[in-house]
Amino acid sequence: MVDHANNDEGPSFVIANLPRGRNMWDRDFEVEKIWKTLENDNVLLTACRRFGKTSIMNKMKENPQDDFVCFMFNVQSMKSPHDFVAALYEEICDDGKFVSFIKKAKKITKEFLGRLEKLKISMLGIDLRESKSSDWQDMANKFVNVLSAYDGKLLFLTDELLEFILNISKHHSENEACDFLNWFREIRQSDKLSNIRWLIGGSIGIEHALKKVGAKVHMINDLSIIVLKPFSDKIGREYVEALLKKEGNFSTIPSGIVEKILTTIGSPVPYFLQILIKESLNAMNESGESTLTDEIIEEAYHNNVLGPASKTYFQHYYDRLSEYYDRDEEKIAKHILRETARTGRYSGSQ
Ligand SMILES: Nc1ncnc2c1ncn2[C@@H]1O[C@H](COP(=O)(O)OP(=O)(O)O)[C@@H](O)[C@H]1O
Ligand SMILES: [Mg+2]
Repeated sequence: MVDHANNDEGPSFVIANLPRGRNMWDRDFEVEKIWKTLENDNVLLTACRRFGKTSIMNKMKENPQDDFVCFMFNVQSMKSPHDFVAALYEEICDDGKFVSFIKKAKKITKEFLGRLEKLKISMLGIDLRESKSSDWQDMANKFVNVLSAYDGKLLFLTDELLEFILNISKHHSENEACDFLNWFREIRQSDKLSNIRWLIGGSIGIEHALKKVGAKVHMINDLSIIVLKPFSDKIGREYVEALLKKEGNFSTIPSGIVEKILTTIGSPVPYFLQILIKESLNAMNESGESTLTDEIIEEAYHNNVLGPASKTYFQHYYDRLSEYYDRDEEKIAKHILRETARTGRYSGSQ
C-alpha cells in the first residue's frame, strides 16, 4: 500500500468510491484509536453518512495490526440472518488458510460443511429461504464455535448493520430482527469466543432507528462507541492543498484559496471537500481561467454543488429519511430541511 505522505503524486478525486493508497488521506489517529479499543472491546464506529467510516474500515483491513486476521463484509443488502451466516462463511472461505483450518477443525463434520455450503447457495436465493429461525441460530452457533478453536485473533469488520436489521424486519419480522440482535450480542459476549472482535459500522442515530423494529438499547450497549468526526482543521487544510496540487496541477496555490474552500464547506469532510474542489476546477476550466479565485469557488458552490446537477451527490441523504423515520417524522424532518435550506435557519415556529 502506498503512503500518501511519501508519495509525490498526491491524492486524486475518489468521489463516492473507496479511497485506497495515496487517495486515502490520513485518519491515522482514528485508526489507532480503534485498534487500541479493540484490545478489550468490540466497537461501533458511527458517523453521518459519507464521513468516511467504510474508508477507515477498509484501511484497517488492508493494514491489520496486533496479529489480527481481518474479514470485511457489507451487510447492507442482506435480508435475513441466514445471509449473515452465509456471508461470514463465504468471507472466511475466500482465505485459503482458513479453508484448510475449517476442514481440519474437530467439531466440523462433513454433514455440517454440506449444510454451510447450502446456506451459501441460499444467499443467491435458490433455497432455504423458508428455514426456521432456530435453524440459522444452530448453524451460526456451531460455526462460530469452530472459529473459537482458531489459534489467533480474528476481526470481523461488519459495515451497515442498521440497514441489515431494518431489512430483516421488513422481509421477515421484527421478532426475527430482535432474535438476530440478541444472538449477535451473545456471541460478542461469549467467553469462548474471546479471540474474535467485531468492528461494526453504522450511521449516527442507530439507537433511535433500532427502536423502529422494537429493539432495545441493551442489544447493542456492550459496544464501545467511537464517533467519527470530520478532519481536523490542520488535516483538512493539508488535504485541500494536496488535492489542488494534484488535480488542479498548481505548483503554487493562489493565496487565500485553501481558506476559501474550507470556509465555504464549513466542516472539513473529505467527501464535501472533493465535490467543491472538483466543481470549482471545472468552473475554472470552463471559463478559460488558469487559476482559482474566490468568485469562481463561490459560483461553483451555489450554481453547481447546490444546484440540481449535483443531486446524485446528496440524494442518498434524502432517501434515508424514509428508511429511518416513520411517515410523520419523515415529514417533519423534510420540512425542517426545506426551511433551513431556504432561509439558512430554522425558527421552529411553523
Ligand atoms: N480519508 C479519506 N480520504 C479521502 N477521501 C475520503 C476519506 N474518507 C472518506 N473519503 C471520501 O468520502 C466518501 C465517503 O466515504 P465512506 O467511507 O464511504 O463514508 P461512510 O462509510 O461514512 O458513508 C468516499 O467515497 C471518499 O470519496
Ligand atoms: Mg459506508
